[in-house]
Amino acid sequence: SDPLILLGLESSCDDTAAAVVRRLDGRSEVLSSVVIGQSGLHDAFGGVVPEIAARAHAEKLDVAVRQALAEAGLSLSDMDGVAVTAGPGLIGGVLSGVMCAKGICAATGLPLIGVNHLAGHALTPRLTDGIAYSYLMLLVSGGHCQFLIVRGPEDFSRLGGTIDDAPGEAFDKVARLLGLAQPGGPGIEAEAHGGDAKRFSLPRPLIDRDDCNLSFSGLKTAVLRTRDTLVQEFGGLTRADRADLCAGFQQAVCDVLADRMRRALRLYLGENPAQPCVAVAGGVAANMQIRARLEQVAGEAGARFVAPPLKLCTDNAAMIAHAGAELFETGLRHDMTLSARPRWPL
Ligand code: KG4
Ligand code: ZN
Repeated sequence: SDPLILLGLESSCDDTAAAVVRRLDGRSEVLSSVVIGQSGLHDAFGGVVPEIAARAHAEKLDVAVRQALAEAGLSLSDMDGVAVTAGPGLIGGVLSGVMCAKGICAATGLPLIGVNHLAGHALTPRLTDGIAYSYLMLLVSGGHCQFLIVRGPEDFSRLGGTIDDAPGEAFDKVARLLGLAQPGGPGIEAEAHGGDAKRFSLPRPLIDRDDCNLSFSGLKTAVLRTRDTLVQEFGGLTRADRADLCAGFQQAVCDVLADRMRRALRLYLGENPAQPCVAVAGGVAANMQIRARLEQVAGEAGARFVAPPLKLCTDNAAMIAHAGAELFETGLRHDMTLSARPRWPL
């Protein structure tokens, strides 16, 4: 059979990304993956500013596309299609990507495939490890947190998710409370090394409830109260206080995710999957303590555990090109009426 070569575009949050993926005999290979971040642009505002993000995407998309093609050693005429994130996300950014993809398709005649950003994350372990359907996926990022049974490129069952903040959002907010840099995850993970996770007692919201839902906002508030108490009593936080608080917070997130994962596994294993497998994706899956804990929970249940390499866990366009290739194989094509969707549940 002939290989399928797709250009992928991603611009739904604060990374402008383009990638080229080649798919042959049921396996995908990343030929190039370019991610242009926007960290410096939003620093002064304490979060991503949608207008600034959209403008930067519009400026950087063609740079990312040219670089992705150059790194793959290919040109647009070698492509079989263009896959683009059509939502969910910040509407200005998603629109920039969809317009760019439509422009390329109008000029070249290539087919257009709109991809759900969450499906991109959820299908990443098929790109990196070639795992078979069905598998249990925990999607944990700055904007999302959900358990999915993934049965096909368009076949997802949502078992539960966060009822308030996403874990990455909690990491970012706690980092802000403690004066650490954004995004907060890597800084908290670094501070937590050597910290005493047992010193402060922090809540494990929703644990032992009979569903797969999660909650993180109470945990963030508990960190805020602990910080304020330390500031009132001692006038500020020592290095050790900060390390202990980071370690305690990270431990609490681990406990909540592990408890909910056990419950999700029970539902998934109840379906008697052929080769039980648990996979994670999203930026928070970059956290080594969280990965190790989830791997342990999967192992105890007799399931394989797959965690993609860090740069494919966070936002990228290779996952969009791969998801686009799987959708292409099902016969899916979009036309110029493809719209950008700020909300698009799986
Ligand atoms: O998937 P992602 O790149 O963007 C979306 O949210 O879609 O995830 C970004 C999130 C941020 O909230 C960041 O703080 C978190 O992932 N993150 C981490 C770590 N690295 C990134 N959280 C915990 N530990 C980390 N090492
Ligand atoms: Zn994402």
